[in-house]
Amino acid sequence: MKILAIESSCDETAAAIVEDGRRVLSNVIYSQADMHALYGGVVPEIASRKHIECIAALTEKAFSDAGIEKNDIDAVAVTYAPGLIGALLVGVGFAKSLAFSLDKPLVPVHHIRGHIAANYIAFPELTPPFLCLVASGGHTLLVDVKDYTSFEILGSTRDDAAGEAFDKCARVLGIGYPGGAKIDALAKQGDKNKYKLPRAKIDGAELDMSFSGLKTAVINLAHRAEQLGEEIDKPSLAASFCEAVCDAIVPRCMAAAKLNGRDKIAIAGGVAANSFLRARLEKEAKSSKIELFFPPVSLCGDNAAMIGAQAYFEFLRKNTAGSDLNARATLSIDF
Ligand code: KG4
Ligand code: ZN
Repeated sequence: MKILAIESSCDETAAAIVEDGRRVLSNVIYSQADMHALYGGVVPEIASRKHIECIAALTEKAFSDAGIEKNDIDAVAVTYAPGLIGALLVGVGFAKSLAFSLDKPLVPVHHIRGHIAANYIAFPELTPPFLCLVASGGHTLLVDVKDYTSFEILGSTRDDAAGEAFDKCARVLGIGYPGGAKIDALAKQGDKNKYKLPRAKIDGAELDMSFSGLKTAVINLAHRAEQLGEEIDKPSLAASFCEAVCDAIVPRCMAAAKLNGRDKIAIAGGVAANSFLRARLEKEAKSSKIELFFPPVSLCGDNAAMIGAQAYFEFLRKNTAGSDLNARATLSIDF
């Protein structure tokens, strides 16, 4: 079964054709990141306009890269939640009209479910159940993936997502947007013990996390140094920050897997590309005899192939929609 998938929930416009949830026939992405970098973060109105400008051409390219015609697909899938509402609406409107004109089923896909499904592409042998750490720009979740369409959130951030903290930290260090990959690269030359940053703990909710205190600590540290005219050791602050994020995520991820007796952990979302997080998880998983699944960095960030992968399993469970499908800015993964 071939599915055309459309993704437009944030600042990447993407189209892909995926066969049977695991095989990518084409995967086209246009990132607007450079445009938003001018403003230090995503400007929703600009994101929507750019999606409108390029969604049709990207879809054409997805077909030509796959070497198939429009009528060769069996369904049209689209990210409908969660995300920037204006941005989502562009993809949803486009996918609805395409599905209607081709007389194909329409499959709505939850963006975070899609991030998890990136693992099905990277690891054809991976099947639920498993524990998934989802760490993206907007979400930090520990999810028990019971089945392809059945999820339970075991832990989550109480405030900012880890990715949000990475981006703010990069902004205050003046190293640009999006900041995660830049902090990651900078941290490699730093001393992770140089700056003392806070580790939050939520009483009575051991698997929940918090990153806003960490984010504020980095901002305050940078501002104080600026006022005193002191030089910040940016690589060491980046390294100390990565260490603090790993300290928040890694032990909870291991605990969540053990809690539900899972011997497999998959990683998803843009922050999953972080090299320190990967190294720490690898070390812990090895000593706990847990098998770890890291999708390649190219599948960690927003893309439409992951949406096409999840769409296949949603379709098998008859989770299709009509032309009254609407976009939703917020929606939990376990809806
Ligand atoms: O999943 P994603 O592409 O988009 C959302 O759905 O949010 O995640 C984007 C986030 C951004 O916050 C970006 O800074 C972060 O992922 N990111 C990283 C790295 N690469 C991207 N964070 C830490 N280390 C990285 N190497
Ligand atoms: Zn995402």
